[in-house]
Amino acid sequence: MAEQRFDGKVAWITGGANGFGAGVARRLAGLGAKVVVSDIDSDHGEIIAKDVDGMFVPCDVTSYDENVAAVEQAVAAYGRLDVTFLNAGIATGVGIGEDFDLGRYRLAMSVNLDGVCFGMQAALAAMQDRGGQIVATASLAGLTATPFDPFYGANKHGVVGLVRAVGAGYAGKGVHVNAICPGFADTNIVSAEAREALDSIGVPLLAVDRVVDAFMAAITSGEGGQCWYIQPGRPAEPFRFRNVPGPRDESGERVSEQAGDVQSTLTQRGAH
Ligand SMILES: NC(=O)c1ccc[n+]([C@@H]2O[C@H](COP(=O)([O-])OP(=O)(O)OC[C@H]3O[C@@H](n4cnc5c(N)ncnc54)[C@H](O)[C@@H]3O)[C@@H](O)[C@H]2O)c1
Repeated sequence: MAEQRFDGKVAWITGGANGFGAGVARRLAGLGAKVVVSDIDSDHGEIIAKDVDGMFVPCDVTSYDENVAAVEQAVAAYGRLDVTFLNAGIATGVGIGEDFDLGRYRLAMSVNLDGVCFGMQAALAAMQDRGGQIVATASLAGLTATPFDPFYGANKHGVVGLVRAVGAGYAGKGVHVNAICPGFADTNIVSAEAREALDSIGVPLLAVDRVVDAFMAAITSGEGGQCWYIQPGRPAEPFRFRNVPGPRDESGERVSEQAGDVQSTLTQRGAH
């Protein structure tokens, strides 16, 4: 099947200067999209933007205002926004024990979770009339327990929770919000120690292209609220979450089949 083209479409990518973001920028531009690359790494950001004949807009995703300004600049330059990749992220570098550091903790939560919340809020405002695709980069750390890096696990679970919630809420409005959840991949974020440990048990790193393939599968799936796991040697797929059983009344009779039924009633009523 021919790959879907993106001629006339506009994409905004955070963390677009390196790794997955740069890979997605190249792929989307190759398929005809105009790409706005955002990052705090201006040197590489400018290079990628030039490579893809797009535009570099500096943006520190921890700043609400910079997210809003980046989306405004994208729309001002190219007239619309169709695809958003909320991908900027950092390794935590601290644990919950003696190696805890408040500054590192706040930075990791801010880049990896606030950054996705702020970027999503700004993008939704620009996309809700015409519809579009939003993908956030979570991680397998958002789907599994990561005792070796608890705060990374916490902020990536946060991204998964946000995507599932907003994905469900916006599914009927033409904005599809999904997450990708890669395993360890060959980018700057993976430390030499982690590479050595993975190598010692025979686990290969994912190539960036495999992650870009999963991103493309997510934005052409027609679905929202899905979290695509990506593992070496397997096709990427939406992770199937187990449903939480529903509540019962005082006599033990079933009130609803699943906890999700309660959530959809609250969503329909607009209850916060
Ligand atoms: N590589 C992996 O093994 C792996 C696995 C799962 C998830 N991830 C996630 O993938 C995403 C992309 O990471 P990558 O692997 O391509 O690593 P990377 O380091 O190559 O890219 C991350 C980019 O985010 C940018 N960035 C950092 N802080 C920022 C900020 N405050 N504002 C804007 N940009 C900022 C960096 O400058 C960099 O360009 C991250 O969210 C990461 O957590 C990576």
